[in-house]
Parts: sequence; structure tokens; C-alpha cells
Amino acid sequence: MSATGPLLLMLLWTVLLLGVLSIVVSTLRTGAPPMPSSPRVRRALLAMLPGDTRGTVLDLGSGWGDVAFNLADHCPEARIVAYELSWLPWLFSRLRQRLFPRANLTLLHGDFFAASFQDAACVVCYLSPGIMKRLEPRFAAELPVGARILSHTFGLRGWAPVRSVRLQDLYRTPVYLYEVPPRAPPRE
Ligand SMILES: C[S@@+](CC[C@H](N)C(=O)[O-])C[C@H]1O[C@@H](n2cnc3c(N)ncnc32)[C@H](O)[C@@H]1O
Repeated sequence: MSATGPLLLMLLWTVLLLGVLSIVVSTLRTGAPPMPSSPRVRRALLAMLPGDTRGTVLDLGSGWGDVAFNLADHCPEARIVAYELSWLPWLFSRLRQRLFPRANLTLLHGDFFAASFQDAACVVCYLSPGIMKRLEPRFAAELPVGARILSHTFGLRGWAPVRSVRLQDLYRTPVYLYEVPPRAPPRE
């Protein structure tokens, strides 16, 4: 009997195990699993973003790339920059980009906390309450006035959304749209 079959099977199991392990480790590290947004949520997010949006749109935690690819199609004049820390979803999204390229989409492997938000016209998030809490002061300090923040499920404490919808899905998922308000002038 050939030994190739069992060897291949073992290799496959090892790859699968390493993949699962890498997802578990990165989820423990970031606090957000690479759970993709459902098509219904993606449609609700895009409905809150004008198709003629220009400038940079940041997808913070792009997972397998679902939202990032939709953003690239929905806003052809914008430059979509997506950050993902977990190797396996990021590699998958890169493979998607290789097979179905979008000229206005850049998929970066890295921590979005190391990025600057200063040029962003919009940021899109599906993260966790803890991560949103850490992001809030960065958004307030760095994002240009009027920049949009779109968030799936997790809101920004202390910010009033300019729009929010609750989907008619199993979880009654909320989706929030915020706009960065004008900053108070510095005191004399
Ligand atoms: C719930 S998933 C959302 C995936 C995708 N945006 C979507 O909506 O389909 C959250 C993703 O954020 C990533 N993430 C969390 N913190 C991160 C960080 N600091 N830098 C980069 N990616 C991060 C996680 O690895 C995870 O894949």
C-alpha cells in the first residue's frame, strides 16, 4: 500500500490545526474573532456611505475581506485601506485580491492601532466594546471633522450617532453612523 495517502492526510490535518490555532491566538491577542459581517449587515453599512465618497476609507479589522471588497466596489473613487492582524483571514483576503483584483483596495497585515487616522474620510468597524473604547480617543483626536465612522454592533460611548438602524435579523443587529463633530477652539 502507498504511504502517500496517510501522509497527505496528516499534512492536511496539521495545516488545519495550525490554521485554527493561529485564529485562536490572534483572537486572544486582539479580543475580536474574525467573524464576517452577514450580507444583510454589509448592505446596511454600505447604505450609510455615499457611493461617491472620495479619499481614504479605513476598514479596521478586515477579516476575510468581505466588507473591504464591498467597500471597494461601492466607492470606486475612494481608496480602501484594510488592516487585519490575524494571518489566516488576511492571507485568504490576499488570495481573493489576487483572483478578483480591486484596483482601489489595499490589504495590509498589521495592527490598525499603529496606523494614522488623520487622512481618513471614513472608518468602518466590526470589533468589540473594549476595542471601540480604545479607538474612541484616537477618532476624536485624529479623524478630520466630518469624517464618518460606521460601526457594526458596537457603538461609541458618549457619541450620538447621526443615524442608526436595527436590522430585522436574528440578533436585531444595530449599525451606527457617526460623524466627527467640530472641535472646540483652544482656550485663550
Ligand atoms: C469581527 S471581525 C470583522 C471582519 C470584517 N470587518 C467583517 O465585518 O466582515 C474583526 C476583525 O478585526 C481584527 N482585529 C482586531 N483588532 C485588530 C487590530 N488591532 N489590528 C488589526 N486587526 C484587528 C480581528 O483579527 C478580526 O479579524
